[in-house]
Amino acid sequence: MQELLKELVEKHRKTTELGKVASYIPELEKTNPRNLGIYILDNEGNEYFAGDYDNKFTVQSISKVVALMLAILDNGEEYVFSKVGMDPSGDPFNSIRKLETSSRRKPYNPMINAGAIVVSSMIKGDDAKDKFNRLLEFFKKITEDPSLELNPKVYLSESETGNKNRAMGYYLKSEGIITGNVEEALEVYFKQCSIDVTAKTIAKLGLFLANEGQTSTGEQVVSNRVSRIVKTLMVTCGMYDNSGEFAVRVGLPSKSGVGGGIVSVVPHKMGIGIYSPALDQKGNPIAGVCLLEDLCNELKCRIF
Ligand code: DON
Repeated sequence: MQELLKELVEKHRKTTELGKVASYIPELEKTNPRNLGIYILDNEGNEYFAGDYDNKFTVQSISKVVALMLAILDNGEEYVFSKVGMDPSGDPFNSIRKLETSSRRKPYNPMINAGAIVVSSMIKGDDAKDKFNRLLEFFKKITEDPSLELNPKVYLSESETGNKNRAMGYYLKSEGIITGNVEEALEVYFKQCSIDVTAKTIAKLGLFLANEGQTSTGEQVVSNRVSRIVKTLMVTCGMYDNSGEFAVRVGLPSKSGVGGGIVSVVPHKMGIGIYSPALDQKGNPIAGVCLLEDLCNELKCRIF
């Protein structure tokens, strides 16, 4: 396996040339677009890795998966999904248009920015700081990675330039979908996206979901049902308006982030973390997706 990963990283270094690192969050543009790494953890305790598996990058939209689990723990499934849907939007991750034009008032799903801001608004805590700290502690617990921390530069960069997210937050507030303080919701959202991780952290998150919400010590942190909801939404919405094609090519519940991460889940077997910051047109890691496709062909581990 270790050899296979090395080969695939070598092969797809070239694929990174077809993409571009995110620049709309200025701090993300400083990344080397040629970076590519993978980390795999399995239920037998094996660890395999190759390439830039040790580089730090911000978790970005992969945090939407973590926030969703915590919001359900805090509020219950029924309340959360009264405020956000469970269907693909067919639009880019940062699209605003259906918030007003669709007959449903709530955002389509928790994986697009509008839905994720609503989810972040539901995390309990005394103030934004407390809410974010609860999320960070929850993230540490499920990944068993006590070193996780905020990247303050990326956070400031996001907060200074996230005007579209702000616009969506205020619109959702005006519609009564966000009921609490909208600035707090945005602060939690920007901060959760700005947590530094490595491919290993992401693989740990994948393994947690592969094991139906259990840590490696056997602690059941979220129920089987919550883990199933999250994985289903990853399949249908996790790679945005490319989720259908991705399901055909790769066929694993996955979630991408504009920092270059992808978490993929091989149910009951493996967690996979990818780091591949050069993105395609839809905002998904271009080489990472190709690498995963090849890997799933080799391992025959797709769920479909
Ligand atoms: O809100 C944003 O635009 C970013 N903080 C996160 C977007 C993201 O990661 C989309 N993923 N592919």
